[in-house]
Amino acid sequence: MEFTVRQCHELDMSGKHTLIDKSPREATAAREIALRYGNQPDALLEILHDLQHELGCIPEAALPALAKALNRSRAEIHGVVTFYHDFRHEAAGRHVIRLCRAEACQSMKANELIAMVERFLQVRLGQTTADGAITIQEVFCLGNCALAPAVMVDDRVVGRVDAARMEKIIAECRS
Ligand code: FES
Repeated sequence: MEFTVRQCHELDMSGKHTLIDKSPREATAAREIALRYGNQPDALLEILHDLQHELGCIPEAALPALAKALNRSRAEIHGVVTFYHDFRHEAAGRHVIRLCRAEACQSMKANELIAMVERFLQVRLGQTTADGAITIQEVFCLGNCALAPAVMVDDRVVGRVDAARMEKIIAECRS
């Protein structure tokens, strides 16, 4: 059996040598999910989505294990993770508000709305509020251009969002 870096033999209470897996949770999750997809590099995006679903983010600690499982360089994996805005390096808050800043929403004052949200929550895009309730992210088109400016609150798209509506959304997230 091949030992990973963090696997080792340890003496248990009875003095027997026992194999203990000391791999970080992140690396273990990465290996298990990659295996579910047959360690196929072509499934990298699906694997990353599953990993983020399980861990709440794509932590750096998972990348070496994932690279090894898929027989790819860590730089390649890192490149994909950083290319897609959907992948987070830190766990999100209990709710994620995605604010659209693509053309149609920009023409309906999306940037002003984003500035208002940043001021109101005291965080910047990509950050989570101190109480862990809300993460805000930018997104480019939610397919709801006719009702711009649009935002997505967790899985729900909301259109024609102005400051008053946004305050209500935030209050709901914090309740
Ligand atoms: S541009 Fe914002 S929903 Fe399409």
